[in-house]
Amino acid sequence: MGLKLSNFVIAALLLLVSSNIANAQIVLFDVTENGTILPQSDITDALLKAWNNACASTIPSKVVVPKGIFKLSGATLEGPCNAPIEFDLQGILQAPPEDGNFTGGDTWVAFEYVDLLTISGGGIFDGQGKPTWGKDCANDEYCGDLPINIRFNYVTNSIIQEITSLDSKQFHINVLGCQNVTFQHVKIIAAENSPHTDGIHIGRSTDIKVLDSNIQTGDDCISLGDGSKQITIAKVTCGPGHGISIGSLGKYLNEEAVKGVDVKSCTLKNTQNGVRIKTWPDSQEGKASDLHFEDIIMENVGNPVMIDQEYCPWNQCVSQLPSRVQISGVRFKNIRGTSSTALAVKLVCSGGLPCQDVEMTDIDLKYSGDEGQITSECKNVKPTVSGIQNPPACVTTAS
Ligand SMILES: *[C@@H]1O[C@H](CO)[C@@H](O)[C@H](O)[C@H]1NC(C)=O
Ligand SMILES: *[C@@H]1O[C@H](CO)[C@@H](O)[C@H](O)[C@H]1NC(C)=O
Ligand SMILES: *[C@@H]1O[C@H](CO)[C@@H](O)[C@H](O)[C@H]1NC(C)=O
Repeated sequence: MGLKLSNFVIAALLLLVSSNIANAQIVLFDVTENGTILPQSDITDALLKAWNNACASTIPSKVVVPKGIFKLSGATLEGPCNAPIEFDLQGILQAPPEDGNFTGGDTWVAFEYVDLLTISGGGIFDGQGKPTWGKDCANDEYCGDLPINIRFNYVTNSIIQEITSLDSKQFHINVLGCQNVTFQHVKIIAAENSPHTDGIHIGRSTDIKVLDSNIQTGDDCISLGDGSKQITIAKVTCGPGHGISIGSLGKYLNEEAVKGVDVKSCTLKNTQNGVRIKTWPDSQEGKASDLHFEDIIMENVGNPVMIDQEYCPWNQCVSQLPSRVQISGVRFKNIRGTSSTALAVKLVCSGGLPCQDVEMTDIDLKYSGDEGQITSECKNVKPTVSGIQNPPACVTTAS
């Protein structure tokens, strides 16, 4: 017993000592080159230089953007790096305000092929998107190739925390081909009328967490594209915006399955939609399974609970053929609050591939408007229902 305990103490001491050594051995790269580049300057070249030097370091490194506003025309910060790397953004990075001047096309800042990346520091990625939001995007799903504020391409084992993405021109954050990345205490801000400014879009990535974050934007709060696997979204507050969405799926050939999505303990405020799964009609083949929405508070939210396999914005669909995306293993549990639309629960599944294994447990919503009674709509689905059901799910009310 005594021996075990002392072994434990020694091990703990060793851990402490070695972690102190590790801390002592972080090499810093200040993008202002020790203060010689002043705030309001353009740091495009200096940032790339600092990143490349840090990335080449064989001991852990930190790239520091100190407090102050710095202009950045664009940056692709690439790995692989030789050791863990931290991007410590304390200041504000400002994108060019107009859309024709980006070096990176549809990208403002990208982190690519980096393992063991940490982003922190409390700073702001300011996309300065306001002048571009007025563009007419009605017939163009992506509104041209406007830059995405921050891209994570093939980033692994990384933590992104305590940063803000502000006024992006297109999506705020795009996650592609990543594994084991946690976003926490992230803030995302853009105006309610800003088009295509999804907060965080995740696709073809595994084990991604979005925790304790606040997302106020003009489009989806968080959207999950094909190949999203083992996704956890917890303690996220959304609104304004379009809610938390899986999809839209089925538009492209060879989409990867979506599997294992947990959305829990989230609050949606004044969003156009709540939690939804959407697929295109007459779609390509696809699969979405194990999708769980639990402990969600809705405050004045339109269509709080929704599966829509006839999703067709801008009436771009030529055919009324059913979606070929199979949805299964869906759980809506403990969802409560107020709906701003009378239709509070909409489960419209594919006529070709009805939804399988859908559970509705403790749905307690009140309609906050005055155009009739709270109601639900169901098509091609037979959910298992238990607990409270307001509105009654899949019961056609006599009219
Ligand atoms: C900044 O200062 C440190 C420590 O004095 C020095 O090692 C480093 O070379 C300086 N960097 C630049 C870019 O001047
Ligand atoms: C963008 O480019 C145009 C033409 O090259 C130039 O006149 C304008 O000042 C640039 N805008 C910014 C914000 O750099
Ligand atoms: C995930 O990444 C974190 C942060 O780098 C790391 O501590 C953790 O060990 C990784 N988990 C796995 C399963 O690799």
